[in-house]
Amino acid sequence: GLPARVRIHEVGPRDGLQNEKAIVPAEVKAEFIRRLAAAGLGTVEATSFVHPKWVPQLADAEQLLPLLDGVPARLPVLVPNARGLERARALGAREVAVFGSATESFAKANLNRTVDESLEMFAPVVAGAREAGLAVRGYLSMCFGDPWEGAVPLEQVVRVARRLLDLGCDELSLGDTIGVATPGHVTALLTALNEAGVETGRLAVHFHDTYGQALANTLAALRHGVTTVDASAGGLGGCPYAKSATGNLATEDLVWMLDGLGIDTGVDLGRLTATSVWMAEQLGRPSPSRTVRALSHQ
Ligand code: HMG
Ligand code: MG
Repeated sequence: GLPARVRIHEVGPRDGLQNEKAIVPAEVKAEFIRRLAAAGLGTVEATSFVHPKWVPQLADAEQLLPLLDGVPARLPVLVPNARGLERARALGAREVAVFGSATESFAKANLNRTVDESLEMFAPVVAGAREAGLAVRGYLSMCFGDPWEGAVPLEQVVRVARRLLDLGCDELSLGDTIGVATPGHVTALLTALNEAGVETGRLAVHFHDTYGQALANTLAALRHGVTTVDASAGGLGGCPYAKSATGNLATEDLVWMLDGLGIDTGVDLGRLTATSVWMAEQLGRPSPSRTVRALSHQ
């Protein structure tokens, strides 16, 4: 069966904008986030407290967060290390996410660490965040394939997933960073995680749409019982440290499918599409989302 309700974890302002060549002004980011919340998205990942040289697009996190006072949504932020957590807490962030990798190559490229070293870096961050009463999400990248290493064995993904959850993450988001997954692979990974004692209720899925499989993969995950799905308004996105990554599953494409299936998301598709059309104007290029194009005649 399929769930009656799905929680969409909107990542456009973070995963989307981190990969845009243009640096979007903080005021425009804040307006984007306000419009996404007004469209009914209850969780909007706002930015990252990473090294500003590594992701210059999000270097304005200190300016952005105060502009979001009163936005009626959960506003998680990415924090890789103690310095990131400190910066996020100083601004009153209530939810944070650490981001690990199932592969050594991407751990090195994205975090300048081995997998073990990155987990050591996260351990005090997760513990400190929980002690402060913050919700903590863990991301696991390269769950389905890696641009340097190729196929990633299920057991390897399961091993790092368990370790991230054991650090105390409330939720784990399974990342198909380069968009190579297909539905059977999704079901196989979810099954392997269940067999290793990970409950489906703690899992979210995070698909990039490089090969056009993100919606099919999402449907496979929903059939398996997953009810939290990451998506990016207008299909913005990618990852600056994984060259073959393109945009995330577009939130509009996801909502179109879920509306059709009678699955409640709380999102107003018209308002959301208008937001992505507005953001595309700010970025100076049309949205890659099929649904945005169909509904807006872009
Ligand atoms: P490093 O160079 O190893 O850092 O980078 P370090 O720990 O050696 O510190 C070096 C200097 O950086 C120090 O300054 C620190 O204070 C400073 P110094 O003492 O030399 O003057 N520093 C910081 N400054 C500000 N904020 C911080 C911070 N940390 C250290 N947080 C580091 C290690 C983790 C910092 C770096 O690799 C980094 O920032 N990486 C982030 C990369 C990133 O954001 N990637 C995109 C997000 S992941 C993604 O998109 C995938 C996802 O969507 C899921 C999927 O699709 O699979 C989530
Ligand atoms: Mg991503």
